[in-house]
Amino acid sequence: MARRKISIIGAGFVGATAAHWAAEKELGDVVLVDIIEGIPQGKALDLFEASPVEGFDSKVTGTNNYDETKNSDVVIITSGVPRKPGMSREDLLEINKKIIESVAAQVVERSPNAILIMVTNPLDSMTYLTVKRSGLPKERVIGMAGILDTARYKAFIAMELSVSVEDIQALLLGGHGDEMVPLPRFTTISGIPLSQLLPKETIDRLVDRTRKGGGEIVNLLKTGSAFYAPSAAAIQMTEAILKDKKRILPCCVYLNGEYGLKDICFGVPVKLGAKGVESIIELQLTDEEKALVTKSAESVKKSISELKI
Ligand code: APR
Repeated sequence: MARRKISIIGAGFVGATAAHWAAEKELGDVVLVDIIEGIPQGKALDLFEASPVEGFDSKVTGTNNYDETKNSDVVIITSGVPRKPGMSREDLLEINKKIIESVAAQVVERSPNAILIMVTNPLDSMTYLTVKRSGLPKERVIGMAGILDTARYKAFIAMELSVSVEDIQALLLGGHGDEMVPLPRFTTISGIPLSQLLPKETIDRLVDRTRKGGGEIVNLLKTGSAFYAPSAAAIQMTEAILKDKKRILPCCVYLNGEYGLKDICFGVPVKLGAKGVESIIELQLTDEEKALVTKSAESVKKSISELKI
């Protein structure tokens, strides 16, 4: 059986780190693409030269030419500008819109059967833009945000309780912005409801830190935004798809009436498998949770309207 092919567009911090995780996990052969000459080639060669040490057999190549992405199974799109301190994800919209439009067209022309994983911010509107422009079925254009936001939430809970991150199950809804909706009611530690282990004020503080989690990293790094956790999250989605794992993960997908929302890309729990989004899971929410979802959806709608498409 031929190896699976994963193309990663954008060989910057997120793209190159995603290539690292993908190769190490032997999910398939990796093609790293960037507009800057030498960067994808250099990073790919360096990563492949690590393979005899780490013992992985994935082929890793770097290129400036989209022809080498032909017939990819999964394409992870990270090309674009990251945030700097003081910027919101929305501040990136104009410049990243142009990049994503051109990248998505070149990718889809060569890999019409691929599943696209979007990472570039502002995530919800870049995913929407790609759903609208690519001509791909909505099940095959999926935004990476929910896994990252949930991972931050889980990390903060694990730090607070001093327990293994492996024992935390959690879920989060909404757009990839400060209005995201972590759901303490759906958070357990090995089955124990979070509310039995932490007081409400502490949970509120962790939820707030999660909402601002991306900004916390931007303020620390000063020259760019997070990349280890975002790339790991994109690779978890890639693995679920390539291994047809049918995992239940929060992802940004196109909604057509689910959660009372239409014509929007928004973070909800989905089943991820070989076909991409195989189903969308609708949770029974309380009125308070519904109000938070509505608020988050309003800010995503605003961002989408700024795309002017
Ligand atoms: N085609 C291919 N690559 C491009 C293009 C393009 N049209 N335009 C820009 N790039 C490349 C840049 O040359 C750069 O190498 O995208 C890469 C982006 O890398 P970084 O600047 O390191 O940014 P990174 O931290 O990886 O973030 C990328 O992911 O999480 C989001 O908000 C983040 O939108 C940002 C994206």
